[in-house]
Amino acid sequence: MEHATAPDSRIDLQRIPAHIAIIMDGNGRWAKRQGKTRSQGHEAGARNVRLVTEACRELGVRALTLFAFSTENWNRPKREVDSLFRLISRAMKQYADKINETDVRLRHLGEMDGLPEHAARDVRKCMEQTRNNKTMDVCVALNYGGRAEIVQAARKLADAARRGEIAPEDITEELLARQLYLPDHSEVDLLIRTSGELRISNFMLWQISYAEIVVTPTLWPDFNRQALYDAIVEYQARDRRFGGRP
Ligand code: FPP
Repeated sequence: MEHATAPDSRIDLQRIPAHIAIIMDGNGRWAKRQGKTRSQGHEAGARNVRLVTEACRELGVRALTLFAFSTENWNRPKREVDSLFRLISRAMKQYADKINETDVRLRHLGEMDGLPEHAARDVRKCMEQTRNNKTMDVCVALNYGGRAEIVQAARKLADAARRGEIAPEDITEELLARQLYLPDHSEVDLLIRTSGELRISNFMLWQISYAEIVVTPTLWPDFNRQALYDAIVEYQARDRRFGGRP
């Protein structure tokens, strides 16, 4: 159910960020603190994806983009990589019906080639099942890098120029933005990073140009509804000028 009144009296429902992106960090540290394995940390992180998705949908957020696996994450031990993709496959199967019932559309950004076959299959299946849903997009960044995204956009434009379809001077910010993984997506309004790190880590480099950034010390598995509301309150207290003057 969407909220008729704000779930937190500090939140202005008229100014909910349309697009929230999250760098979900801290699963490993969470596990260590609890005396659990890293895999259990990622499992808790995956469960939290469901909770935060639901909370965003209730608030009227239109798109939620989640950094689940970066192009740099391949450097982790193979056991951890394998277990992460098994978890992602499982989540796609477990949550597909729920995502569908709540009119949420699953999307992917990144390079599908290179994902383990079972993960690519389960992500595709979930996308297919939810493709006509309209209330909110959940976009999962898998095998995603912000620089790689811009490089593949540049290649498409170079190809079009080679074929004589465009001239170099036709290349504008709008035209480049249309070659990104999800060209119809709005730019990010609010970027949240959990676990206190002050880095962008090659995430959505193009789309976060004017995003408000909120970094919270909370580890991802502990990032609950209240933490989301706090981030939105902080966002709403900012004065967004997009480079202009008040
Ligand atoms: C960072 O924690 C987290 C990741 C690299 C993986 C994030 C993936 C999930 C939460 C599962 C995704 C599931 C779905 C359904 C999209 P870390 O291991 O870097 O933590 P640390 O810095 O504390 O070690």
